[in-house]
Amino acid sequence: MAGGSGTRLWPQSREQYPKQFLSLIDDKSLLQNTALRAARIPGALPPLVICGDQHRFIAAEQLRQIGIKDATILLEPAGRNTAPAAGVAAEFAKAKYGDDTLVFLMAADHAVKDIEAFVQTVVTASAAASLGRIVTFGIVPTRAETGYGYLKRGDVLANGAHQVAKFIEKPNLDTAEKFLSDGGYLWNGGLFLFRTATFLNELQQFEPEMAKLTAQAYAAGQHDLDFVRLDAKAFEQCRNDSIDYAVMEKTSLAALVPLDAGWDDVGSWEYLGTLPPTDEDGNVARGDVILEDAHNNLISAHSRLVSLIGVDNHVVVETDDAVMIAPRNRTQDVKKIVQKLKSSG
Ligand code: GDD
Ligand code: MG
Repeated sequence: MAGGSGTRLWPQSREQYPKQFLSLIDDKSLLQNTALRAARIPGALPPLVICGDQHRFIAAEQLRQIGIKDATILLEPAGRNTAPAAGVAAEFAKAKYGDDTLVFLMAADHAVKDIEAFVQTVVTASAAASLGRIVTFGIVPTRAETGYGYLKRGDVLANGAHQVAKFIEKPNLDTAEKFLSDGGYLWNGGLFLFRTATFLNELQQFEPEMAKLTAQAYAAGQHDLDFVRLDAKAFEQCRNDSIDYAVMEKTSLAALVPLDAGWDDVGSWEYLGTLPPTDEDGNVARGDVILEDAHNNLISAHSRLVSLIGVDNHVVVETDDAVMIAPRNRTQDVKKIVQKLKSSG
């Protein structure tokens, strides 16, 4: 899934060039690293990339750069969040490979440090998925993050999996703090592994209208040499919702497999804080940066020299045409600036 506009990483992430296509962690983009991770999974079929129509050439070019020639790129006429994207992914898998095929639904905005451990965990999870579970990947939480979903760990199932006793998407801060101190909750890794038929049945049950429209959008789509274009009329009628709210909070088939692979959602500027500091004062600085009496800041300089004096715990992001400065605990609010920009045209 490589749609979405990555608003919390403004001003670097832009509508024309959103975060999944940016090289934020290393010299490859988040999408490229995701495709390369997928290819490492034993028995992986050629990847399916689902993104916005306006990003088709960026996606195609980035896959070409890393030597992936057999991908299918499925284009959405407009973003409808991840539930419809998951629906068309399952329709594609069903049409191309049949009902029993396992779909591994990955977000294109993750960073994973330990690829071996990641691949091994996916292999472990495939047993429960084959048996009809929708497997999620649980990460031990390290902060009361309100931008994630939480999984309450339930009874042990076979094959290294647990029942998900409860799935709570993006709780408020109070609830997130309770989950963190409770110890029985894991972050939802935003990765889902399921049999095609299992997911389509659940979508049919909880979102019959969306199931119908996504099936139509795929079936009436245009399949040309390079891209599959979903039928715009059907797809645009889909309700805008995430897989987390539309299916995962409701299904009784959710299972979890713990994931310990240095996972991170590169969702807000706070991700820079997970990288090793670049000086003894706890700052993480990228680009041309000079600091004086500055501590625990996250700084990203692109085209100009950035200097801070006597500033602590701030995020400073400089690009060609915009500069953003915020206290570190307010980085989720960047999306409010983007909203203001949009409404002011
Ligand atoms: N094709 C497509 N179309 N992809 C989309 C769309 C869309 O309309 N909207 C989002 N995506 C992609 C994003 O690019 C990202 O790779 C992935 O789907 C997840 O979307 P996010 O918008 O980043 O979701 P989130 O981070 O707020 O929440 C999800 O991930 C968290 C962990 O990363 C949820 O699953 C949470 O429960 C989870 O904790
Ligand atoms: Mg995300």
